[in-house]
This record gives sequence, C-alpha cells and structure tokens, in this order.
Amino acid sequence: MEILPIGRTSFGDAANTGNTLSREEAYALLQEWVKNERLQLHMRQVGHLMRHWAAETEGLEEADQWRWEMAGLLHDADWDLWPEQHCHKIIGELEKRQVCPEVIRAIASHGPRYFGVEPATSMDKMLYAFDELSGLVHAYSLMRPDGYTGMDVKGVKKRLKEKSFAANVSREDILDACQRAAIQQDELIAFIIKHQPQVN
Ligand SMILES: [Fe+2]
Ligand SMILES: [Fe+2]
Repeated sequence: MEILPIGRTSFGDAANTGNTLSREEAYALLQEWVKNERLQLHMRQVGHLMRHWAAETEGLEEADQWRWEMAGLLHDADWDLWPEQHCHKIIGELEKRQVCPEVIRAIASHGPRYFGVEPATSMDKMLYAFDELSGLVHAYSLMRPDGYTGMDVKGVKKRLKEKSFAANVSREDILDACQRAAIQQDELIAFIIKHQPQVN
C-alpha cells in the first residue's frame, strides 16, 4: 500500500495552542475509529509511554503530560478504517476539532520516511522513537512465558538483532529515531520495559 506524503509542515492554528480533547473525547474517537483491539492496545501503550516520558524525563505538568499522551493515543487513529489515508485523516479531524498544533504536528511526523514530515520538537521525536520499539517489546512479551516479568534490556536487544523476529518492526526507524532524539537505545528500552506492563 502506498502512503501519501503529507506535503506540508504547518499544522492546525496557532490560536488553538494548548487545546486538547478531553480524555473522554479522545477515547470516544479511539473506540469509534479503531475496531482492531491490537491496534488500540498499541496506541494506548504509546500514549502511556509518552505521558510518563513527559512527566519523568521532561518534568512537565499534568496539562502537558496529557498533550503528550494524546499524541501517542491517537497517532494511528485512522490506520484501521482508512489505511490509505493514514495520518491525513486524523490530522484533518484534529484540525477540525481545533486541537493544539503541537499535538497534530507530532502525529504528522511519526513516520518521516512515509509522511515526509521531519520530527522537530521533543514530543515529535519521542513519539517516533516509542512507536516501533514499543511494538517490538510487546511482541517479545507475548512470546515469553512470564510476559514482561523478568524481561531485561539484553533480551530485547537480542530480539532486535534477530531480523525474523517481529519482522514488520523497522530496525532502521528505531536507530534513526534514537539518533534524532539523542537517546541511547538501552535507556529507551529500559523505560519501555518499566512502563509498558501497566497497559493491558
Ligand atoms: Fe502509524
Ligand atoms: Fe504506531
């Protein structure tokens, strides 16, 4: 399937800076647009990681934590029903709902190779960084008898090197994302192992 580049670098309206959906509205959109439960789980996992990164690493307050979480929670919202319009549809929807440009931009830049929008802010970069790696760690948890319990960074790195494991997860994007965010891969993996089990 061909994913169309987004073809612009400006999103939303500056007048909407700081605006978000409420948690109820965001979850309603998720339920309405995403029927695939695995995809919903992925989006909730990435949202959760984004919130905790905002809180713990960026030291941001609750309102900002929610903006980060919302970007993660809705980043793949259109993938289930409109895969050929991936990213375009959700960007349009959030612009229509007058959501903060920063959140829309982060969603637009979660796959620079596909959408052609470069991650610029730390929110953009972390969404891109968590996206694929979170999926690989989750796939690993499913094949371990104890799930996330006792999982370590070394084990995840072994799976990363095994090309046939979760083959749809782009190793290239993971490397690229860590470089752009200037984060050690080990640190990111440890963070995911610590926080991801809380989402199920
Ligand atoms: Fe995506
Ligand atoms: Fe994703």
